Amino acid sequence: MIGSNMAQTAAMLRLTPNICLYDPFLQGLEGVAEEIFHCGFDGLNLSFTDNIEEALTDAKFIVSSGGAPRKDGMTREDLLKGNAEIAAQLGKDIKTYCPDAKHVVIIFNPADITGLVTLIHSGLKPNQVSTLAALDSTRLQSELAKYFKLRSEDIEGARTYGGHGEAMAVFSSNVKIKGEELDSIIGTERLPSEEWVALKKRVCQGGANIIKLRGRSSFQSPAYVSIKMIAAAMGAEVFKWPAGCFVKTAEMQNVVMGMETIIDQNGVQYTQSIKGTEEDQEALRSSYQHLIKMRDEVIKMGIIPEVEKWSELNPNL
Ligand SMILES: NC(=O)c1ccc[n+]([C@@H]2O[C@H](COP(=O)([O-])OP(=O)(O)OC[C@H]3O[C@@H](n4cnc5c(N)ncnc54)[C@H](O)[C@@H]3O)[C@@H](O)[C@H]2O)c1
Repeated sequence: MIGSNMAQTAAMLRLTPNICLYDPFLQGLEGVAEEIFHCGFDGLNLSFTDNIEEALTDAKFIVSSGGAPRKDGMTREDLLKGNAEIAAQLGKDIKTYCPDAKHVVIIFNPADITGLVTLIHSGLKPNQVSTLAALDSTRLQSELAKYFKLRSEDIEGARTYGGHGEAMAVFSSNVKIKGEELDSIIGTERLPSEEWVALKKRVCQGGANIIKLRGRSSFQSPAYVSIKMIAAAMGAEVFKWPAGCFVKTAEMQNVVMGMETIIDQNGVQYTQSIKGTEEDQEALRSSYQHLIKMRDEVIKMGIIPEVEKWSELNPNL
């Protein structure tokens, strides 16, 4: 569902006349293409194929949501093995058919791991691969706006970092509610500490809640936001929500995770250090440790090599 919504969003935003859809399930894909033809977009050169070589040859910008989604009760991590294998193949296919691709956005979960696996196998540079991590931050913004009965634009600096999973780090630091620091409101009667803890939990379970409400994994917001990411890489408005990217800082290395980033024509760039209270920093460290554990599981599965050997597959790492 994300793929069809992405195609529609890209056509509506008139990002490019040339869009190619790929899915191994050809019948469903044809249905998507038919629907888009029936929209009657002017000047759109939409093609579709179940042949990956045809899809990727000379592709410059790629967004992939091609993997299994969560069902009710599943975590993103439950999807690990199957989707990590899909990511490895995608990376190899990029290396074979479009080594000159400019930017790739990875959506399918667990996105930090599938993004890392794609990067390692593709041979692309770290700034050329980003993952969809922004929805956790947009969910924080939305939960705060609902709680304080404000509009979303009255909430500034809503940010989550680290893994895009239920072990994400939800930051209270740097958030402003109509210009007032959130940290000075938490623990007062306007936002008692237990209400803040409950709000953070709703943010972490924002995706699971959509599954409960709609009986399927979210697709409108991931489609829209990931197309805004690739649009930024193509030179449209700079994307300022956190994105997942390959990280090498003094404290955290060799993972893909949500950071303070911008995406523009130079790809994804991150701020080396994220400011936050000790509680926020601790949450980030623990989210990072969770990612290391998942990354090491994928190494054990043989889907990616040991860290020291990554540069043999991708000299940019
Ligand atoms: N990062 C995020 O914020 C975020 C948010 C929501 C969903 N997701 C994830 O995005 C993914 C897609 O979700 P969806 O709701 O669109 O699922 P979906 O089941 O509706 O669509 C997935 C599509 O992928 C196709 N597919 C299977 N193997 C493939 C392959 N090797 N290459 C390309 N396509 C392949 C399937 O045929 C199917 O059409 C899931 O992994 C989901 O968990 C991520």
